[in-house]
Order: sequence, then structure tokens, then C-alpha cells
Amino acid sequence: MSRIVYVNGAFVPEAEATVSVFDRGFLFADGVYEVTSVLSGKLLDFDGHARRLERSLAELDMPMPMTQDALLEVHRRLVAENGIEDGLVYLQVTRGAADRDFAYPPKDTPQTVVLFTQSKPGLADNPAAQTGLKIVTLPDLRWDRRDIKTVQLLYPSMGKMAAKAQGADDAWMVEDGVVTEGTSNNAYIVKDGTIVTRHLGNEILHGITRAAVLRFAQEAQMKVEERAFSVEEAQDADEAFVTSASAFVMPVVEIDGAALGNGTPGPIAKRLREIYLDESRKTAV
Ligand code: PDD
Repeated sequence: MSRIVYVNGAFVPEAEATVSVFDRGFLFADGVYEVTSVLSGKLLDFDGHARRLERSLAELDMPMPMTQDALLEVHRRLVAENGIEDGLVYLQVTRGAADRDFAYPPKDTPQTVVLFTQSKPGLADNPAAQTGLKIVTLPDLRWDRRDIKTVQLLYPSMGKMAAKAQGADDAWMVEDGVVTEGTSNNAYIVKDGTIVTRHLGNEILHGITRAAVLRFAQEAQMKVEERAFSVEEAQDADEAFVTSASAFVMPVVEIDGAALGNGTPGPIAKRLREIYLDESRKTAV
């Protein structure tokens, strides 16, 4: 069944959803995106994603293409029209189409706004949550503004392929001897009951799931340290996990061939996954 896609104000069948070859998202990766998950037909952490979108756009000198309420309505209509029970809504905003030039086009150039859904039945019951992920590490060769959620995803995509080529599920990226984050998720380790994850800065994306999970961990009286950690420290940890809008909290059981703990998902990752899913379903819109 063909999806209904939102393009620049219109809800159209996907075959009719097109943008210009001169779009700056296509030519310069001059655009930002968000991914919001849907469980039981409702959007998780919508406010957080909308606020981060506004921040990413502002960092690139672009305005919000519409109000947060209007954006919510577009998300909801797509979820309804495409009958999404469990899945994702992808949103992308670019600086629009203009003759190719490194300089930005005039401010009144219409932005390109695209949203589409992806159906993922059973998204919250991903079997990987029971077995855990195998991770390899790679140098972090991305640019220095990873806090902006731009559509420049080639290096993370290469990282994912490199992980698969080594029989692993995903990669963590390493810079100056410490882990920054996963290809498309934030990275955590747990040692002696303390959860450690890299502090916020320009070096990582400020995950919306990260913010929620750290808040829930603190409310559950778990100890949290926001600081960098090395690959060696991670390999010596009791457990590890990643967070993202599409994976929620996903346990990690192996890093560069070294099994963590007994090689199965750890109790803190499991507990945080349950809490995150329960609590975010409660506030889903
Ligand atoms: N990726 N770090 C990176 C590099 C990411 O690409 C993502 C999300 C995250 C987690 O952020 P959040 O919790 O807000 O989803 C961290 C999305 C899911 C993607 O690209 O599909």
C-alpha cells in the first residue's frame, strides 16, 4: 500500500512526493531532521523532538517552518492516514531549492518540508532487546557540530556497514581516546551500579531519549555520571546500552569482541527500557 507523504503543505501518495534536484538538502546536506517514534498510534516525546528541531534550525540560521502545534497536526494526520500503530515519523527541513551556490540563497527562499511514516509493527518488542547488541569501535571522523541534527549521515552509514562487515550490529565512535556516541544513538556504560554517559557538548547529539532516560534513572535513585569514558573502561563495565528514538533503550553485550558481564543484557538496561517504555507511553500524544 502506498503511503501518504507530506511535502511542502500537501499530503500526497508517495509516488507523487517529489522535491527539486536543486534542493540544498540534496546538493549540500543543508537540512536537518527528526525521528519521532509511534507506539499504539501515539507520538513519543513529541515536545522534545520539536524543541530540538527548532534549535538545530536556529544553529543553521533557519526558522521553524510552522508552529509546533501545526507540526503536531501534520505528524498526527500522517500517522492516522497511514494507519501507523507502531513505527516512526521522519521529518526533514532544508533551506529549499536554489541555483547551486555555496552562499545561502535569499532568506525568502521557501524551505522544503517533508514528513513520512515508517511502519514497524512490534517496535517495542524488538528481539534484539533480549539478546543485546555487539558493538565495534571506529574513529569519529564526523564534523565538529554533531549537536545539530543535520542530514549529513554518510559517516554514520559507513560506520554501520563497517560494523556489519565485522559481524557486529553497530559501531561506537571514538575521539581523543574516549567514546562520543553510536552511529545513530547515545552510548552508556554501567559500573558498580553507576550509569556513565558522555556529557553534552558539540561532540554528540543531545538525544531526546537520553534526556528522558537520565531523568527516569535519577527518579529511580540510580546513580548517573555525565562524563566521557574510554573503550577500555567500557570493556571492563558490568553492562552497557544505547538509547535512541527508534531503539528506546537497547542493551549492548559485546564491545570489540570483549563480552560484558556474562554476555547477556544487564539488569539496569532492562529496567531502564521498561521504565522508558511505560513512562513515555503515558505522555505520548
Ligand atoms: N538517530 N546520536 C546520534 C548520532 C543519532 O543519530 C541519534 C538518533 C541519537 C539519539 O537521539 P534521540 O534519542 O533523540 O533519537 C544520538 C535517529 C533515531 C536516526 O537517525 O534515525
